[in-house]
Amino acid sequence: MKIFTALGLDRYVCIYVADLSNEDSMNNIKKQELGFDGAYSTLVILHIPDKKQTYQNVCNLLNANSYFRNEDYHTNKDTDTEFASLNIGCNNLMSKEQMNEMAEEIGFINVKYVNYQKEWSKFVQKRASTLQDLANEKFKLGKGVSSQKLQFVIAVDDYFTNKSGDGGVFLMQKKVF
Ligand SMILES: C[S@@+](CC[C@H](N)C(=O)[O-])C[C@H]1O[C@@H](n2cnc3c(N)ncnc32)[C@H](O)[C@@H]1O
Repeated sequence: MKIFTALGLDRYVCIYVADLSNEDSMNNIKKQELGFDGAYSTLVILHIPDKKQTYQNVCNLLNANSYFRNEDYHTNKDTDTEFASLNIGCNNLMSKEQMNEMAEEIGFINVKYVNYQKEWSKFVQKRASTLQDLANEKFKLGKGVSSQKLQFVIAVDDYFTNKSGDGGVFLMQKKVF
């Protein structure tokens, strides 16, 4: 909120804090705002166990024909989901086919998907090696970086490099009921 205030945008922006998978919380937002012309989620739904309820709640918030863009992890046949769950906090990851099917069942149409596995692999590799170098430099100066953060970025790198982590962007439109 501080950033919005600093930019003079606080008159135009309203922030709600809610569990996306909680129907009552999301319906409360709908009551206050009536409806939204778009929804955008980046690397959030991968953590939420009940993805179907979450998609349903987002769909309920949207006006007809509005778009939902969900940047998310999904599985392929080789993905190590246990590693993802233990080290990255992923929950009930699904295949991209299951994600698309779920979207259509709920009431989204024109479901499209773009894979970002290669781009994300490069990004997370570079992020892990940069942070590791920084940690080594700081260690020489008697300082450190957060070991929790280091462990997390190394685990994400390992997941995409060695455990068949996969993901991309799911784009869909709410159908007119
Ligand atoms: C990997 S971070 C992504 C943050 C941000 N979207 C980004 O791309 O930098 C995952 C975020 O998901 C949020 N999250 C996890 N479970 C959630 C839920 N049930 N409802 C709403 N947000 C949730 C966490 O609070 C966290 O901020």
